[in-house]
Amino acid sequence: MPAIPSQMRGVEVTAPGGPEVLAEVSLATPTAGAEEVLIRVLAAGVNRPDCLQRAGHYPVPPDASPLPGLEVAGEVVAAGEGVTRWRVGDRVVALTHGGGYAEYCVADAGHCLPWPEGLSAVEAASLPETCFTVHYNLVERGRLAAGERVLVHGGSSGIGTTAIQVARALGAEVATTAGSAAKCDYCRELGANHALNYKDGDWEEALRGIYPEGVDVVLDMVGGPYVMKNVRSLAADGRYCMIAFLMGPKAEVNFGHVLTRRLTITGSTLRTQSVAAKRAIAAAVERDLWPLVAAGRLRTHIHATFSLAEAARAHELMESSAHLGKIVLEVAPA
Ligand SMILES: NC(=O)c1ccc[n+]([C@@H]2O[C@H](COP(=O)([O-])OP(=O)(O)OC[C@H]3O[C@@H](n4cnc5c(N)ncnc54)[C@H](OP(=O)(O)O)[C@@H]3O)[C@@H](O)[C@H]2O)c1
Repeated sequence: MPAIPSQMRGVEVTAPGGPEVLAEVSLATPTAGAEEVLIRVLAAGVNRPDCLQRAGHYPVPPDASPLPGLEVAGEVVAAGEGVTRWRVGDRVVALTHGGGYAEYCVADAGHCLPWPEGLSAVEAASLPETCFTVHYNLVERGRLAAGERVLVHGGSSGIGTTAIQVARALGAEVATTAGSAAKCDYCRELGANHALNYKDGDWEEALRGIYPEGVDVVLDMVGGPYVMKNVRSLAADGRYCMIAFLMGPKAEVNFGHVLTRRLTITGSTLRTQSVAAKRAIAAAVERDLWPLVAAGRLRTHIHATFSLAEAARAHELMESSAHLGKIVLEVAPA
């Protein structure tokens, strides 16, 4: 195992702004706390929240790394004295508290999972953020059960592709929205029972034609004008899970629907949850989703990879929404 260098390469947000504010710099290598591991990063997933952070719309929690990057795959190179599960040399995937866009990254030991066998570094790095978010929202908050119907917005996104596969594995029926015919085809290939091109007519009307009685769960990343449409699309005792507001966090809602059909409106962000809460999500993901990954029933689709120095290009692609699935940074050769 090579010595840990005191300096490393990482990508910094130099000022809030467009992708051009991302700059590759030399920084001090972080050190692991008592219950943390230091990971030599081989690959780091790119997620939409990284773009929001870069643009200044997603404040970094005070205890987090200021560098972007919420998930990595790599090799443990140091472990704090309180860490029992991982040893130097173990290959792990991890949900990170920022800092993934770097050669070395610290993660809580309880937020690391074993690297699924047979997956490349790029594939492994693309799993944690979407698996944690989807499991927590669909299973914990949304209580999606076999035989139920779920509407997943943004079906071709990193989150959407995972949500479609997880929902199908749970035995649910899936309807999804996406912004082109090709994206809809892709969602169907992943297992969506129905894919609605929201740029080609009113998805709410189309969904009503498919499920006149409504869906049991909505996983929504759009917000704004979708809020009332989602509320109307829910069946009695339906659950509305908000994870983002691509079209804004404000909406006028007729709460009469909530009363008459006993709806639950909920939501969450992963990043702001406590270390303990994220450890519990990690354990649930390992219990429920890792067997699906091992069986090839939950697979990751990599749309494009970039080097660390090309992080700005990765953000440009993500913000163009031209991608299907995940975008990943290749940080070091495996
Ligand atoms: N709450 C949490 O814990 C949490 C965690 C991770 C991510 N997120 C959020 O989840 C979302 C997805 O993240 P990601 O990393 O998977 O990003 P991503 O791959 O860039 O996905 C964004 C998707 O939204 C779709 N979209 C945009 N406007 C839409 C509309 N009006 N109707 C339907 N779809 C629309 C885009 O595709 P098309 O428009 O072309 O279909 C794109 O596929 C982001 O908003 C992110 O901030 C939340």
